[in-house]
Amino acid sequence: MKKIFAANWKLHKTPTETRNFFSEWKDLTSGFDFLNSEIVFFPTTICLESTAECAKGANWQWGAQNAYSELKGAFTGETSVATLQTLGAKWCLVGHSERRSLFAEDDQLIAKKIAQIQLAGLTPLFCIGESLSERQSGRTFEVLQSQIDKGLSLANKTLPVVIAYEPVWAIGTGVVAEPAQVQEAHAKIFAMIEKLGFKNPIPILYGGSVKADNASGLIQISHVDGFLVGGASLEPNSFFAIAKA
Ligand code: PGA
Repeated sequence: MKKIFAANWKLHKTPTETRNFFSEWKDLTSGFDFLNSEIVFFPTTICLESTAECAKGANWQWGAQNAYSELKGAFTGETSVATLQTLGAKWCLVGHSERRSLFAEDDQLIAKKIAQIQLAGLTPLFCIGESLSERQSGRTFEVLQSQIDKGLSLANKTLPVVIAYEPVWAIGTGVVAEPAQVQEAHAKIFAMIEKLGFKNPIPILYGGSVKADNASGLIQISHVDGFLVGGASLEPNSFFAIAKA
């Protein structure tokens, strides 16, 4: 299975900054063989068109950070998967903890979004993860099981899905989960999804304060199939250092 290195830019970069990043990325990575890995960028929605232009002939893919569960209608401010599809997106993030906590997205909405993303022929990058209090109260695996069961309840099992395990307490905090915690969580998630009977293997990415200096250790843990990177993906050099891991 190819390792997947995904860049979640959150609310960063203008279209000009996006183009500048990709031109630097092209120079930096020219001659580097990404054959065993997939690089995926998630810019803001308004920067997707410039991203699509930069992606022509490139050896990386891109997707949106969000899309709505309905295809059209009175949903002010939302973006449809059909629009993403026409732009050429191959991926869409869904279930990120910031969407869950700041924008009140629940498991039911996430399940609908995943089904819609798949229908449009895009791969959902489905984020799950426990909060600090859930971990401290010993509920980590109960929470992950519930997020997986509910989030994937409407998914088409013959189409691809990728999971990102992101402990909420490790996102943007500089605190990385201990290798033993990552190993335990990924092994449990692997066992949970194995039971669901999806046709294709479901890669499990780790996310939460991944940096160049911890990436090479984390990528060697079994069932860690890549990373979802926030802060350290904003500069070409630091993201390339992670992808080279
Ligand atoms: P971080 O963000 O790498 O800045 O912790 C990861 C994420 O939110 O996907």
